[in-house]
Amino acid sequence: MKKLFIWIKNYLNHPLEIGAVLPTSRFASRLMSSEINKSPDNVVVELGSGTGKITREILNRGVKEKDLILVEVNENFSKILKSDFPKAKIITENAISFLSNYQKNYSNKITHIISGIPLVSMTEENRDKLCELSIKNLHSKGKFIQITYFLRCSFSKKIINQYNLKKKLVGLSILNVPPAFVWKIEK
Ligand SMILES: C[S@@+](CC[C@H](N)C(=O)[O-])C[C@H]1O[C@@H](n2cnc3c(N)ncnc32)[C@H](O)[C@@H]1O
Repeated sequence: MKKLFIWIKNYLNHPLEIGAVLPTSRFASRLMSSEINKSPDNVVVELGSGTGKITREILNRGVKEKDLILVEVNENFSKILKSDFPKAKIITENAISFLSNYQKNYSNKITHIISGIPLVSMTEENRDKLCELSIKNLHSKGKFIQITYFLRCSFSKKIINQYNLKKKLVGLSILNVPPAFVWKIEK
């Protein structure tokens, strides 16, 4: 209940950045994490982890907490993540700057990017930058999984065409407020 209160308070202060009235449901989170291939070599990055609802399902999928990188710009949410997932790497930073510096800080390419970031409420320039940097840091067989409340894929046609990407609708979760679509982008 305390986490929900913190969520709503932060949503009222930063509605566009948070982008959802409520945290993602277990059902939609499961739909996203079902796309994670089971492998000991996974490098999983969650962008916009919020209060950790999708994170829980990523762990339930078998990813080890110590192998997980959580990127969250909101300091109040980041504090919750640090206390609930003490073995994960929690990066309190804008996802764009995290991805810009990824290569300098990490040796392995990312196998899965799980994103709850509301790409549609970003400026077109920032959205394209985030998508482009994600693709550059993604393993050749990697996946970018995005939740959105619109039927349209959040990656622009420009980026899809420029990098010759494949996009696929993974599914719709009606048991989410609001109902959510999950998209998969692959190289
Ligand atoms: C729709 S919420 C999803 C939260 C959580 N993953 C969930 O599903 O319940 C979006 C989250 O992305 C974070 N966020 C928005 N823009 C961001 C950015 N540029 N970099 C990092 N985090 C960002 C927000 O603070 C918020 O926690």
